[in-house]
Amino acid sequence: MSANIHQQRNNTQDSDKESYVLSLLSKMTLQEKIGQMSQLNNDCETLAISIKKGLVGAVLNEVDLDTINELQRIATQETRLGIPLLIGRDVIHGFNTIFPIPLGQAASWSPDVVEICAKISAIESSNSGVNWTFAPMIDISRDPRWGRIAESLGEDPYLCSTLGTAMVKGFQGDKLSDNTSIAACAKHFAGYGASESGRDYNTTNIPENELRNVYLPPFKAATNAGVATFMASFSDLNGIPVTGNKWLLDDILRTEWQYRGPVVSDWESIPQLVTHGFAVDEKSAALEACNAGVDMEMASDNYAQHLTSLIKSNKININKIDIMVSRILKLKFDLGLFESPFTKSTASTKHLNSFHLSVAKQAASKSCVLLKNSKQILPLSKTKIDSLAVIGPLADDGYEQMGTWAFDGKAKHSITCLSAIKDYVKDSVDVKFAIGMETSRSNNYDGFCEAIQIASSADVTVMILGEEAILSGEAHCRSNINLPGYQEQLINAVYETGTPIVLVIMAGRPLTLEKILPKVDAVLYAWHPGTMGGPAITDTLFGEDCPSGKLPVSFPRTIGQIPLYYGQKNTGRPASEESFVNINDIKVRAPQTSLGMTSTHLDTHYSALFPFGFGLSYTKFEYKNIKVSKYSVPMGESFKVAVTISNIGNIAADEVVQLYIRDLVGSVTRPVKELKGFKRIFLSAGESKNVVFTIHTNELAFYNRQMVLTAEPGLFHVWIGGNSDTKLKTEFEVLCKKKH
Ligand code: NOJ
Repeated sequence: MSANIHQQRNNTQDSDKESYVLSLLSKMTLQEKIGQMSQLNNDCETLAISIKKGLVGAVLNEVDLDTINELQRIATQETRLGIPLLIGRDVIHGFNTIFPIPLGQAASWSPDVVEICAKISAIESSNSGVNWTFAPMIDISRDPRWGRIAESLGEDPYLCSTLGTAMVKGFQGDKLSDNTSIAACAKHFAGYGASESGRDYNTTNIPENELRNVYLPPFKAATNAGVATFMASFSDLNGIPVTGNKWLLDDILRTEWQYRGPVVSDWESIPQLVTHGFAVDEKSAALEACNAGVDMEMASDNYAQHLTSLIKSNKININKIDIMVSRILKLKFDLGLFESPFTKSTASTKHLNSFHLSVAKQAASKSCVLLKNSKQILPLSKTKIDSLAVIGPLADDGYEQMGTWAFDGKAKHSITCLSAIKDYVKDSVDVKFAIGMETSRSNNYDGFCEAIQIASSADVTVMILGEEAILSGEAHCRSNINLPGYQEQLINAVYETGTPIVLVIMAGRPLTLEKILPKVDAVLYAWHPGTMGGPAITDTLFGEDCPSGKLPVSFPRTIGQIPLYYGQKNTGRPASEESFVNINDIKVRAPQTSLGMTSTHLDTHYSALFPFGFGLSYTKFEYKNIKVSKYSVPMGESFKVAVTISNIGNIAADEVVQLYIRDLVGSVTRPVKELKGFKRIFLSAGESKNVVFTIHTNELAFYNRQMVLTAEPGLFHVWIGGNSDTKLKTEFEVLCKKKH
């Protein structure tokens, strides 16, 4: 049998993929076809036997190279048709070398950083036999309570589309068949980020207009970038769980977007159609998912159990199955698995090598966002301080700094802040460490005394606080997003010592920091920075690197402001400084009409604590002379918007220049600001540059009332600056297309 198979495989080398898929398909039994549609977890006791019977198309979560090669051997040499396996793994922000969490990478606003991190992740994971990752997660995330915001690229469709595309390119390389490429997966299609109350797996209700204008663009961009696979979301979208949502998976994804690759379910999301109350039993769940367009079932066995009888009873047409299976086979061809199913680990691809680690360090450093820097306490100088107190449960914990979804990273490979700081200052500064709290969640004062003691006698205190890895990620949502445990009390206690405090936060989401902000002199937001977090943070604290990260998501003042995002609608009664009324300013029994009557909360300011796109530097940038190349832009043409930016400080640094527009009047209302371009540029001290953006009127398009993507004529505002709150503005008008 195996001779036949080899013969067959050799013959395929010159034949075109599609005809080979068809000929392979014609030889397959129904059971073998359904086998291709099944993905089993590596802990399945009968995995090898099932593979041998041709009942498995993909394996999930196996990363041991020898085991993978053995499974591939069984699949290709001991089955009737010798079809190799897809080997899937959540390689989300690194494999052995762990990069910052995706939300952190997004804070770099650098497609180059995101792409190279994904490329290295692909190199390391493919060297272990993995050929498919379940990333990028491009769910627009506007609720920081949702644990999965950590895995996202933030709140904005443009930023998320740009960085998601970069991640796809990084994973997939130039050709999927290259040894170091792996298939990417655009997930979770779609709307998962809108889970009600930020509670994972929860219902989503998203009007079609918002779905198309906000949640779908990153997925469309991933399709355009050639993403190899899609994953259907767990969530219920407007009453129809996505796993059974034909409108989304078929009408939009396949018919409208012409996406050709396979769609995989999420983990057991097919049987969960029963739990949703959408299917009466697992057989109808299999029917709904298959009809909707889910090509492969992850982890559960509803397809294996029920597709045969559904086909035999004509509930599902065999042609449909053939199309679904052919998508999976085609992916295997594209990955080059028919030619080379086995992985030879190459020593030259040493994981965690110095290049990978240097990229991890740069990525972590570019992801750090400086939120506060009073009296320019930062950068620290090792020649100007004699003693440093380092305090906090995240200062010396190699595991927690990796963050969520770091299955294949090891704590022992991480360099922590404490060890990097000690290494950096050597003998020139006396560094003392106190953990302060056993974990970020501790609810006791046990470590406070020691922390206060070392802070009292230090020149500066660096507190490294935040959230442990387990507090964000899948199913790890929070109803309060302050610093957990007694961390605020710890800050208050250290504040009483009078020693200046530099607060470094490692976290998987934005935290509410308003209360503690006055107590600290500087805040550096490092997210979960990964393996090289310590050296990156140390170099930033001591000015070897200048912070240049910008927030990919708005930071609320209080939980009650959520959802809070910069691209909100104006409303009929927008908030303003003049109309804003604070609860403390309301007179007892005041007439009710005196309360501003605009869209605000009484007990907090209406703005974000830190807006989207915000991030300080050790230098200062001045923006001026915003100009459009033409005021009147005919529909269908491009125009330029330019600005002069100067580094008026005395440190060379990167700045992320951001361009926002507002379409003043639309046939459906438009956001008050929309990001339409950004550039990360480098400016030496004293240097000025003219930065020019080219915009085509197509980029101003949105889905209108008829759900048609159209740019509308009329007046636009355009801003360029260093964050979404920029005031430097000019305008242009788009003219109707001339009728000939
Ligand atoms: C469930 C998660 O929602 C998904 O993102 C992940 O890829 C799969 N499990 C596989 O681990």
